[in-house]
Amino acid sequence: MSELVNTWTEWLKSSRFSYMNEIQKQQALLWLLNVRDNILDRAALKQGDTVLDIGTGTGLLGFGAYERLNGSGEVILSDAFADCLAECRKIAEKCKIVEGLEFLQSEASDIRLPDNSVDVIVMRSVLVHIPEKLPSLLECCRVLRKNGRISIFEPIIKRNTRYYELINPDKFPNYLRIKEIEDKIASDPDDPLVNFDEHTLKNDFINAGFKNIDVNMSTESSTYEVDPAMIDPWFNTPPSPDRPPLKQRFMQFMPESEVNEFLELLKADLAGSTITLNSPTAYIYAEK
Ligand SMILES: C[S@@+](CC[C@H](N)C(=O)[O-])C[C@H]1O[C@@H](n2cnc3c(N)ncnc32)[C@H](O)[C@@H]1O
Repeated sequence: MSELVNTWTEWLKSSRFSYMNEIQKQQALLWLLNVRDNILDRAALKQGDTVLDIGTGTGLLGFGAYERLNGSGEVILSDAFADCLAECRKIAEKCKIVEGLEFLQSEASDIRLPDNSVDVIVMRSVLVHIPEKLPSLLECCRVLRKNGRISIFEPIIKRNTRYYELINPDKFPNYLRIKEIEDKIASDPDDPLVNFDEHTLKNDFINAGFKNIDVNMSTESSTYEVDPAMIDPWFNTPPSPDRPPLKQRFMQFMPESEVNEFLELLKADLAGSTITLNSPTAYIYAEK
């Protein structure tokens, strides 16, 4: 059964971690904090800056920026979805934050702010959920002041380790078919999660009018001993509230019975083995 996720807050708070054990959850949280710090370091925040966090979710970057501004300047937490802003308001109340924080419901491609009104934009894993990236970057350029900075992070999912790279081809009668399907899923031009990489992003930054663009690639590696019980959740956890889980993507190319057979073979082949999943990621900094 696929997990049903209705809102971004639900996905951010529980669904995205649902296939992990406690140790993996802790590692994922530490990794997120490290990504937040890298994005904010690269943004080189200055006292008094107005900072816009686009697609703030539960405020990972925005609250981090607020802490760094230390009472000076302003942070605007913006998201297309009201549930995220409601969650951020709750956090702000809990932290007794009464000024220096604004909440803005806004699409990344139609930011409800005047031209030249912010000093810094930060964004983590937002463009990856938007089919066309350029319109949002054009908006970022419009609302930034001259010489304003943008610092973002995006996962380059199309180059993540594929399952067919982990398995023993001799044990999978339809190995080539599986490989073909996985490659198709990972390069679907209509899927916002995989229809870009660091090169297309850099071009979009150039076309949006940014200068001094710096792309910094790194690879996140996770090494696991596979417990077969992990495999169904891997295939049934949606990558976002509005995208189908991997199992359903496979079912667009082969009948469910064949996908189930593949999953059973996968459990048998990987059980107890130690695998490494590599996920390339891009940090991009630029100026207006
Ligand atoms: C993976 S989450 C990242 C949340 C947050 N930036 C973080 O680092 O934890 C993606 C966020 O982008 C928001 N989002 C998705 N599509 C959007 C759009 N078109 N415009 C603005 N925000 C969007 C979602 O509501 C969600 O909060």
